[in-house]
Amino acid sequence: MRTLKVALLGCGVVGSEVARIMTTHAADLEARIGAPVELAGVAVRRAGRPRPGVPEHLITTDAEGLVARDDIDVVIEVVGGIEPARSLILSAFEGGKSVVSANKALLAVEGAALHAAAAKAGADLYYEAAVAGAIPLIRPLRESLAGDKVNRVLGIVNGTTNFILDKMDTTGAGYSEALEEATALGYAEADPTADVEGFDAAAKAAILAGIAFHTRVVAADVFREGITEVTAADIASAKAMGCVVKLLAICERSKDENGEESVTARVHPAMIPLSHPLASVRGAYNAVFVEADAAGQLMFYGPGAGGAPTASAVLGDLVAVCRNKVAGATGPGESAYAQLTVNPMDDV
Ligand code: HSE
Repeated sequence: MRTLKVALLGCGVVGSEVARIMTTHAADLEARIGAPVELAGVAVRRAGRPRPGVPEHLITTDAEGLVARDDIDVVIEVVGGIEPARSLILSAFEGGKSVVSANKALLAVEGAALHAAAAKAGADLYYEAAVAGAIPLIRPLRESLAGDKVNRVLGIVNGTTNFILDKMDTTGAGYSEALEEATALGYAEADPTADVEGFDAAAKAAILAGIAFHTRVVAADVFREGITEVTAADIASAKAMGCVVKLLAICERSKDENGEESVTARVHPAMIPLSHPLASVRGAYNAVFVEADAAGQLMFYGPGAGGAPTASAVLGDLVAVCRNKVAGATGPGESAYAQLTVNPMDDV
């Protein structure tokens, strides 16, 4: 089998870890895929910065040119944001390339259009890294639980806010100090407003609800309240009541009196009793409960943010799409076969 060539778009906290693991684990990846896989180019916004472990000759500022190269098989997009990520992914599909993305903001808005473009091109779109860092959630929901009926997905899906709330609770640190530390550790988004105002968690909730309930949910459908209004006094009173404050994402399937199914998705801070498993989720860890008819209650737990954990999910997707290429197949696409009503928060 010929060498599969990979274009990496973005070389920040996550991208640099992807490049490192691709290089150091090359032999293992080849054995698992059944073909050699090679990092063929790395697109960055600004050249000339030291990027340890990334050979200088692979670096380019011409992302469009890299994606258009005939020899590229797979594009990994870890740029984030809507543009130019959206146009680059669509160009990749036009060229028949498969895409691995960690871009929750984009997928939560343009997921349906991207899936349609992938299907038209006979290509794959995988995005395990878009939700909850290293924790496998997208594929368990899309594949392992595809024969079951998921009724509820609930949990902590933003590492930055969990880190901040945990730090404030356990050390008495102030909000700004805790946010600064989360940013320095590489957990926060380029603009941490997305984390602290709940936009990041809302995008993840939209993606999870769409896959879990086989419908279309976009970020704007999700009720959203962040943690900027949570004060040290709120945390102290929660503590006095034997609780902690956590930012929760809650996606539920419900039925009205006529048996019509609908979906509710919301993100907001909540008081959790210390006896609840979510109360012990510390630092930038995430935890998600999935409730399904036959499976019962499942809990997914692990590092939800940071370079290496997120790169682990990207690499898992890379192996999957490369295996599909070797087999001449594509993986599961969008499963939105029913358009369920998404309830506004007033109806909850
Ligand atoms: N900023 C995100 C978080 C990164 O803190 O969870 C992982 O999606």
